[in-house]
Amino acid sequence: MKKECVLVAGGAGYIGSHTTVELIEAGFDVVIVDNLSNSEMRAVEGVRKITGVDVPFEQVDCCDIDAFRKVFEKYDFDSVIHFAASKAVGESVHEPMMYYRNNLTSFMNVIDLMREFGRHNVVFSSSCTVYGEPDKQPVTEQTPRKPATSPYGNTKQMSEDILRDSIAAYDGLNGIALRYFNPIGAHPTALIGELPRGVPQNLVPYITQTAAGIRECLSVFGDDYPTPDGSCIRDYIDVTDLAKAHVVAIRRMVEHKNKERYEVFNVGTGRGVSVLELVKGFERVNGLKLNYKIAPRREGDIIAIWADPTLANEKLGWHAERSLDETLASVWKWQQTL
Ligand code: UD1
Repeated sequence: MKKECVLVAGGAGYIGSHTTVELIEAGFDVVIVDNLSNSEMRAVEGVRKITGVDVPFEQVDCCDIDAFRKVFEKYDFDSVIHFAASKAVGESVHEPMMYYRNNLTSFMNVIDLMREFGRHNVVFSSSCTVYGEPDKQPVTEQTPRKPATSPYGNTKQMSEDILRDSIAAYDGLNGIALRYFNPIGAHPTALIGELPRGVPQNLVPYITQTAAGIRECLSVFGDDYPTPDGSCIRDYIDVTDLAKAHVVAIRRMVEHKNKERYEVFNVGTGRGVSVLELVKGFERVNGLKLNYKIAPRREGDIIAIWADPTLANEKLGWHAERSLDETLASVWKWQQTL
């Protein structure tokens, strides 16, 4: 039987590379498209090493529709996972047009080309950022979306709407938006992981670089929030678990189990963890002392958010499996390879 093939746009990135591994291990063929603007060939090589498969790679910018069209002409895939987007919240505030142009154009090109070539299934990388500061925890998919607080967040909301409206209008198009909570961790082989460029903006790469002596001191942004220990609370989801959610989402569409044609799922653990708990967990698991200090709150941070993942548990049969300790050990193992 012919294998199902999936185009992974942004497959050289952090979540894209882990998802490619899980797809291949689940029996799919994969084609990676990436412009390497915020990723490296090292990730593609890591994927090839882990899987033993010479995964095809096309260096193409998804915003360049003519170049992107050639990928659709060349490969026979019926499903696309779209990761190809910029993701730095702070940068998006200073460069809004870059975010709108890049994130929306590349996704609209995916949909246009899928229609042009009669391809059917798409998974979109959304984010818990669409909920803003929620009134109630944990958030379900029915929790109202709040107005976005950054252009980045706005591109996630707008892309969800573009997908929903396209599916309503075009027969044959199916889509799933996965709302990720905070992805962390590295592959157990330590052959792929997060590769931040410059000074990391996210908590875990900042922690590992501090432990490695690349950064002097971690700033914990705020200890006076209305939370048990005063620091912010997030739902940290292991990247391998998150990658597996994409595999089941694709399978659901390939097997025509998505009667509604457009679906949204939270992808989180259901467990809220504070910044200070995460820092202490990292120290304990890895037997290290981390140099950190309490610093003022970071502008734009929400106080707390964690997922109710029941819908993904029940409909996708997906559960977060890796423990936070395993994940925190994996990031340190990965950091030591850099
Ligand atoms: C944000 C976005 C998320 C996006 C992600 C990736 C929101 C609500 N969330 O997550 O959609 O996918 O970025 O870019 O917009 N922290 C420190 N010190 C640091 C760094 C972070 O204390 O040096 C704290 C933050 O204040 C926060 C927590 O760690 O409380 C997590 O921060 P971060 O890793 O940047 O992710 P989010 O801001 O939650």
